[in-house]
Amino acid sequence: MSSIKLRAVVALSGLALVCAAQLARSEAAAPRKAAVPAKKAAAASKSAISAEFEKFRDIMEDASPAELFEAKGAELWKQKRGPKNASLEQCDLGLGPGVLKGAYVHLPRYFADADAVMDAERRIVYCMVTLQGFKEADLAKQPFSKGSHTPDPVSLVTYVAGQSRGMKIAAPQKHAKEREAYKIGEEIFNYRAGPWDFSCATCHGDDGLRIRTQDLPNLSSKKGAIAAFQGWPGYRMTGGLQHTLQWRLNDCFRQQRVPEPGYVSQTLSDLMTYLAVNANGQLYKGPGIKR
Ligand code: HEC
Repeated sequence: MSSIKLRAVVALSGLALVCAAQLARSEAAAPRKAAVPAKKAAAASKSAISAEFEKFRDIMEDASPAELFEAKGAELWKQKRGPKNASLEQCDLGLGPGVLKGAYVHLPRYFADADAVMDAERRIVYCMVTLQGFKEADLAKQPFSKGSHTPDPVSLVTYVAGQSRGMKIAAPQKHAKEREAYKIGEEIFNYRAGPWDFSCATCHGDDGLRIRTQDLPNLSSKKGAIAAFQGWPGYRMTGGLQHTLQWRLNDCFRQQRVPEPGYVSQTLSDLMTYLAVNANGQLYKGPGIKR
């Protein structure tokens, strides 16, 4: 990254913090308990804060902080690391060992060696375990970015996703297990549970839903499902951390008040299969920015 671009990133990160602080304030001011999605008035378009954020995102995505994590991921990918002192360069993300171009938009997919449908993060963790000798239990101890700590898989997924920038989403449905993953993902999406009897669909199954200032994408529709892809992995302005879709879904399980699934679990791969297949055919713009 050029130093000019780097400076732009730093400057814009400052801007992001201000914006995030404002968001946090406006959210803190809103009642915390009633996180029940409401249908916005027919005439109202996006919330004012969403519109403001869209403006920031347009500017920021030209010099996105996500690029820093992409660069870090590229380094990690090539380094000999772990108990086996190996790099990830032989990791097969579905298009052959070491093939990164387009791999992300063709995930989740079925992998015969693991006899499972895996999403990008799960597959990368699988490679870290099989090729480098890391222990999955260790990686699962603190899998999400927190404070100044960004777990290696987060940077690695960002790097891999960057290699599919500008490509069409094409999650396969050829293998029987891929079709099964979609079906189970769809069931999970619509399954109501927890103290409020919410499902993912309660918040993401209809057009025009909103919680407080946040517009909720309709992930069950072809048009809305792109929100599960676009900008992920992403630099989240609220909190200033880089996160993957694993984190996003995990946090939504938490919002749904149901137990959070295990890190890189089949449940998450199934849900991601549902979301990705719904978004098939649309263009992936690469790692980005989230509010
Ligand atoms: C109580 C409401 C609620 C429930 C239930 C819920 N979510 Fe969310 N979801 C949200 C909110 C709020 C956001 C953040 C929107 C934002 O940042 O603008 C979000 C964001 C997302 C995003 C990212 C969208 C984007 O534009 O980047 C995905 C994907 C997602 N949710 C999937 C799910 C899935 C899958 C489930 C079920 C396991 C679920 N959500 C359950 C409220 C919910």
